[in-house]
Amino acid sequence: MRLALDAASTALGRTAPNPAVGCVLLDSHGQLVSVGYHARAGTAHAEVHALAQAGGRAAGGTAVVTLEPCNHTGRTGPCTEALLAAGIRRVVYGTVDPNPIVAGRGLARLREAGVEIVGPTLPDECERLIMGFRTWVLTRRPRVTVKLAASLDGRIATASGESQWITGPAARADVHGFRDCHDAILVGAETVRRDDPSLTARLEAPRDDHQPRRLVVTTRPRSLAASLRLFGPTLAAGTTVAAPAGSDASHLSAGGATIWALPADERGVSLEALLDRAGADGLTSLWVEGGGRLVASLLARRLVDAVVWYVAPRFIGGDGLPALGPLALSVLADSPRLVRVRVTPLGDDLRIDGDVDYMGSGYSTPTSPKTQE
Ligand SMILES: NC(=O)c1ccc[n+]([C@@H]2O[C@H](COP(=O)([O-])OP(=O)(O)OC[C@H]3O[C@@H](n4cnc5c(N)ncnc54)[C@H](OP(=O)(O)O)[C@@H]3O)[C@@H](O)[C@H]2O)c1
Repeated sequence: MRLALDAASTALGRTAPNPAVGCVLLDSHGQLVSVGYHARAGTAHAEVHALAQAGGRAAGGTAVVTLEPCNHTGRTGPCTEALLAAGIRRVVYGTVDPNPIVAGRGLARLREAGVEIVGPTLPDECERLIMGFRTWVLTRRPRVTVKLAASLDGRIATASGESQWITGPAARADVHGFRDCHDAILVGAETVRRDDPSLTARLEAPRDDHQPRRLVVTTRPRSLAASLRLFGPTLAAGTTVAAPAGSDASHLSAGGATIWALPADERGVSLEALLDRAGADGLTSLWVEGGGRLVASLLARRLVDAVVWYVAPRFIGGDGLPALGPLALSVLADSPRLVRVRVTPLGDDLRIDGDVDYMGSGYSTPTSPKTQE
């Protein structure tokens, strides 16, 4: 299963709206035959990829899959039938497919056909691979993870707006790893105006030339200069500006950027509408890199699923920019908090990450099932 997990990770962040899945085939003597993974939506599923390499050698053998094999026909045929046709006698699985049109039916089909089913094996690791997919398939919105880098006194920039760099090289490299695994990166317009970021994943050893999409939310697209990096010739095609319907963003679309004209609410663009639109575009995971006002708006709307928070051992002072904009809380019991918290030292900095718990707000895991195409 660890080999299957590694194979699946190869394509993490590249399979949307499908999950990253890995498959290892063993022959009837338990010898390794092949390793497959799902590379992109519309291409072979992991099982079929592994079977294609096996060339019949897996007959009577075992398939080890990070995710329950599908039993429906989407853009490709059902993996259950491909495994049966190849003569697989045992399936070891990592986690059940959250897609309501699979949800145990793939395993049931295999069991009915006489295949031995073993699992769940390493379910937590296998589940981590499909977190974005789980959220998307149940809500048709991406899983939202917020990243901020703050000083010990909770500031994300100096009074003059300087924020590069609060953390050290290890924490910054960590951020690039997260960017690489997400379908898209979202930022508020003030971060773009002040920092002129490129929001690309820059890894020491890149897996490929894939880059996440880049989203900017603004009420005033005219305030975003076409000369900013995100709108330059190399990045514009992967950049989307989310703005209220009716606003003029022609100078950005002329350079190749995509414009989403979205319904407005009292905060500007409806952030729920933004997530619905991202989901409709097949984005299953969104990595939000600030700034503090956008993050506070998302938290206040209970739209953040997880947080990755870097703390640097320095002080910026009360005149610096607070990590979060107002949340309008009066009682502590209402404050969102992290659960399943992990603390990881990175050089002199700390990474604190966890899932957001909105304290009995009713929100915890996605529950409104809609079927996948
Ligand atoms: N240390 C870190 O991790 C980190 C990360 C990011 C940024 N920063 C720093 O933070 C500063 C910027 O942060 P900030 O809190 O001032 O601003 P921000 O959150 O980056 O941007 C706020 C702007 O985003 C747009 N926006 C937010 N919600 C919106 C909505 N619902 N609809 C439409 N537009 C919306 C608005 O743009 P318009 O005004 O165009 O309408 C708003 O003025 C910079 O100095 C940057 O360097 C630090």
